[in-house]
Amino acid sequence: MPDITTTPTRPRPVPSAPRRRRHGLALAALTAGALAVPLGLSPAAAAAPPAAPAAARQAASTVSTTSTTSTTSTTSRDRDRFSPRGTFTANWTRAQALKIAADRSNTKPLVPENFPLMTEKVWIWDTWPLTDLNMKPLSYKGWNVIFSLTAPRDIGFGDRHWQARIGYFYSRDARTWTYGGHLFPDGESFGSREWAGSSVHLRGDTVQTFYTASGRDNGGIDPTDALQRLATATSTIHADSKRVWFSGGRDHRIIAQADGTLYQTLEQSQSGPIIYAFRDPFVFRDPKDKKVYALFEGNNAGVAGTNRCDRKEIGPVPAGHDVPADARFYTGNIGLMEATSRDLKRWRLLTPLLSAECVNQQTERPHLVVKDGRYYLWTISHTFTFAPGLTGPDGLYGFVGKGLRSDYKPLNGSALVMGNPASAPLMTYSDYVMPNLLVESFVDTVPTAAGGVRFGGTLAPTVQLRVDGARSRVVGTRGYGYLPEMRNVGGRGGR
Ligand code: FRU
Repeated sequence: MPDITTTPTRPRPVPSAPRRRRHGLALAALTAGALAVPLGLSPAAAAAPPAAPAAARQAASTVSTTSTTSTTSTTSRDRDRFSPRGTFTANWTRAQALKIAADRSNTKPLVPENFPLMTEKVWIWDTWPLTDLNMKPLSYKGWNVIFSLTAPRDIGFGDRHWQARIGYFYSRDARTWTYGGHLFPDGESFGSREWAGSSVHLRGDTVQTFYTASGRDNGGIDPTDALQRLATATSTIHADSKRVWFSGGRDHRIIAQADGTLYQTLEQSQSGPIIYAFRDPFVFRDPKDKKVYALFEGNNAGVAGTNRCDRKEIGPVPAGHDVPADARFYTGNIGLMEATSRDLKRWRLLTPLLSAECVNQQTERPHLVVKDGRYYLWTISHTFTFAPGLTGPDGLYGFVGKGLRSDYKPLNGSALVMGNPASAPLMTYSDYVMPNLLVESFVDTVPTAAGGVRFGGTLAPTVQLRVDGARSRVVGTRGYGYLPEMRNVGGRGGR
């Protein structure tokens, strides 16, 4: 989580909602201060000697490009490696990231300090539309519906992560949103707070939400608790001519946990400099094999700092580019898992699709657009999560490939798609690209003329992107929080 290190906080004890006691799966042991690391290299990490790869790290197939058997033909071997269940992981290399350069085509238009608020009630940040499994934003009975992480607006902006709940909004014109409240009843979700995810309309009035169960169950407000698991629950959506509401949301289930072999566990991450990740599930159906998968944000498995930056992670860097030893602590990846039951309640972890090892610690909120047979893989990241020796703006990064698991190439050579302007480096965050290439995000921290800042916690102007093969450019804005449906379900009875 990005901005907890960059936004001033006003610590204020707020009692959390009573939570139902759960007896979930066994938790990794936590050490106090697990989350005290986002501020830079922890003393332990900084002092750690350059280590040989640990057994756990070697066992991970995350960046393996070794062949299988010598008797297998290249074609069938490639087919295996590049199938969604295969072992190939693309790399975002240091050589590519070194090409990051801001210009007009990849810089977001300035958000003025007098931006409007969607609601006075809650801070709003990571937001996603109701979609179908084909990733298209939906309206239900004529109502556009979106989901956002929310927290009461009377707590400090930086404190919101520890009290996050998924809220929902509805709108007829996809511009003026009414806050509907929390998606799930109090005390039902796993963890101590609900972090980002996706919500898919399955059939009739059933909506299944996939979210990050952040923190241990019933943990209260505890910023040192970095546990993250992936969870799901189903809700029933209702709409009449006046409003949209949800019922249900009581059948919560943990669907994935970091395994330590493909994805780093909390325990393995302890000596790392920045909070580890196992979060932000994005559920979709691959148009090629018609199976249902989820992308998510992970870190490569193994004890933090026990890996080395190797050639495929570094790439063809210019002569004289040094790789600082601490770059090895930055191991972000875009994870993949597949649904193994029709009700999308059982899942299996697969090898990560993309590794940012030695480049960036956080590849947050990964999501996908499939256009003209090309797979566009999007993620968001921060300046402060780039490995030493690299930098890039807070913003949207993207890759293009021929299939779900493929040799992804960074858009524009570097992966930078659009970042905040240098004059407002924390202006907006958490970009989400819809199949119509409209990109929504939230207003984070906007500098004011008086020399201060105004916190946003509301949706930013939607940006229109143009993509042509492996190139992209920002072509304009479409108004605050514009997230129009691409398909309606349930008839138009809500009108
Ligand atoms: C991105 C993010 C997500 C996470 C949420 C926590 O803004 O860090 O990865 O789910 O915020 O608040």
